[in-house]
Amino acid sequence: MSRVSSVCDVEDTPEDRYFLNNPKPESLDDLILKTSNFMNNCNKSENNDKIVLVTSGGTSVPLENNTVRFIDNFSAGTRGASSAEQFLFKGYKVIFLHREFSLQPFNRHFMRFTNVSFLDYFDSNGEIAPKYKKELVEMKRLSDLYKDQLLMLTFTSVNDYLWALRSIAILLNNRNCIFYLAAAVSDFYVPYDKLPEHKIQSRSEFQDESKKKHINESGKLVLDLDPVPKFLRDLVQTWANNSMIISFKLETDPNLLIVKAKQALENYNHQLVIGNLLDTRNREVVILSEKTADETWIRMTDEELKQTCIEELIVDNITQRHTEWINSSD
Ligand code: PMT
Repeated sequence: MSRVSSVCDVEDTPEDRYFLNNPKPESLDDLILKTSNFMNNCNKSENNDKIVLVTSGGTSVPLENNTVRFIDNFSAGTRGASSAEQFLFKGYKVIFLHREFSLQPFNRHFMRFTNVSFLDYFDSNGEIAPKYKKELVEMKRLSDLYKDQLLMLTFTSVNDYLWALRSIAILLNNRNCIFYLAAAVSDFYVPYDKLPEHKIQSRSEFQDESKKKHINESGKLVLDLDPVPKFLRDLVQTWANNSMIISFKLETDPNLLIVKAKQALENYNHQLVIGNLLDTRNREVVILSEKTADETWIRMTDEELKQTCIEELIVDNITQRHTEWINSSD
């Protein structure tokens, strides 16, 4: 009886069905092993280590199983990479689950500039160009200093991300852990059973007959995307129900930001939502908490931004709240 009901339970929600119908990524076992080893090393120190999972970068949605085309979510990874540095400075161990090739802690200072390319960092003898030497040496020092405190894990598709998040959450579920969900996660995707095996052909005679047609009579590509289940509910209620969960809310319309952030808190019952607008995300955010229902704005002037980044202030605020939260439940 219990066996039957537990099988029914497993297939009950869209979130459960997602994991039954979309295959486990090949790299998942390796990711779980790396996370377990990292956690074991943390626990060895007997310091009640604080750990944060920082998710960063955008998830992609493949349109083909052998992927040539995909839909992408916007995110350079600045928020995540910069926050990861700040958590390390505060003594946290950091699991950095990021989109492959997006910005990384410490390396981010030398990546993806429109006016500086990789080779510009060197002079014609292959030595570091004097202009960049000070910052390079400092970031190399920090990167070496924190290398055992930082676990780097990657995802590409939204499927990789969801499987990884669930696996890590189950391993990490305790009060000393924060989930800091800065990744930009797809809201729509093509389920595995509807995914064409090979590159979608523009000419109808080459289309995969076994799958739904993607090119209509007028030669237009027609996409039929399913909603990605809102896994935040499972994360808060089950996978990581002992940890502090912080989600980000990204909007482009200022009139919607607070409303949608409050809605997220009400819907998922987690501890904090950090709201940001696409255009101003590097200089202002709003923090909303489940408890106080107040809005804490963090705003930085251009002058202040020359000295530091907004993530220093965000992480300072969050780590204080995490300590209070741990103490309040002792
Ligand atoms: O990397 P940068 O360029 O610095 O940009 C940083 C950022 C703007 C991407 C970051 O600060 C940010 O806002 N990240 C969250 C973006 C996002 O996914 O927002 P959303 O409003 O679509 O989703 C809100 C929350 O719902 C997310 O925390 C996500 O964990 C959750 N979600 C999303 C999709 C989904 N199917 N299920 C979910 O539970």
